[in-house]
Amino acid sequence: MSELQIEHLHADFGAGIRGIDLSSPMPESMREEILDAIDTYSFVCFPGQAMPDEELLAFTRLLGEPEPEHITLGQTGKIVYFGTVGNVGDDCVQKGNDHPDIRFQAGNQLWHADSSFRERPCSFTVTHAHEVPGEGGATEFVSARAAYDRLPDDMREKIDELKVIHDYVFSRSQVAPVNPNHAASLPPVAHKLIRQNPRNGRKNYYVGSHARSVVGWPGIESRELIDDLLARMTRPEDIYAHQWQAGDTVIWDNRCLLHRGASYDADRWRRRMRQTRVAGSDYGELHS
Ligand SMILES: [Fe+2]
Repeated sequence: MSELQIEHLHADFGAGIRGIDLSSPMPESMREEILDAIDTYSFVCFPGQAMPDEELLAFTRLLGEPEPEHITLGQTGKIVYFGTVGNVGDDCVQKGNDHPDIRFQAGNQLWHADSSFRERPCSFTVTHAHEVPGEGGATEFVSARAAYDRLPDDMREKIDELKVIHDYVFSRSQVAPVNPNHAASLPPVAHKLIRQNPRNGRKNYYVGSHARSVVGWPGIESRELIDDLLARMTRPEDIYAHQWQAGDTVIWDNRCLLHRGASYDADRWRRRMRQTRVAGSDYGELHS
């Protein structure tokens, strides 16, 4: 990485990267460096960026094809590429703790990979922080790749060829009702449990809050396995908690990380982040 200064954020994954303005035109070699950094570190944060929506979408397109945001698509059929995370709407008005939108976002406080419930899950999420709380509101991350590396051999063999059902309605209806059109647009899907990065060959397992059951396994055993895999990945020492600063542009790799939002006092603080996602490409799922 010639011009980029890299700071490691956790023993397993994560990098802070300085020395680049993401909103300026960049040569192909720099785009490749960023994609390599994502493959290597899974989470990359570029602090101090100026990133209005237009620039955020242009940067997203450099990384791949933007993924239509599933809530608007499911509810109305319209394609939009932006999601707003936090408690400040497009009208700039702050929503408090009792607002339905804030309650709905409580689902983000469960460990998950974005859009794992889609037939072709997204690869990356790109988030730019405009306003952040003075207290709380971190996002926590863990590496499914490091967790896979820690598994004993017999466990790796046991799970090697399994498939898992991911189901948005299953996970979200535990937190808040799901709009019927939205629910109908997202039928349960089966994904291979073990996945592999095609560029560096690193393997991981793929679970999270949308993971409902193991295909072909009885209910209790299935739940126990998914819960066990999740617990192995999310020990306190495995977690990197990102305390957002205004101006952070962060890319995380949903193919091999889980994340969850930490709570904050929405009555007291404003939190406004704009988010895009990069559609999934052929990811090395084993045993197709
Ligand atoms: Fe998320």
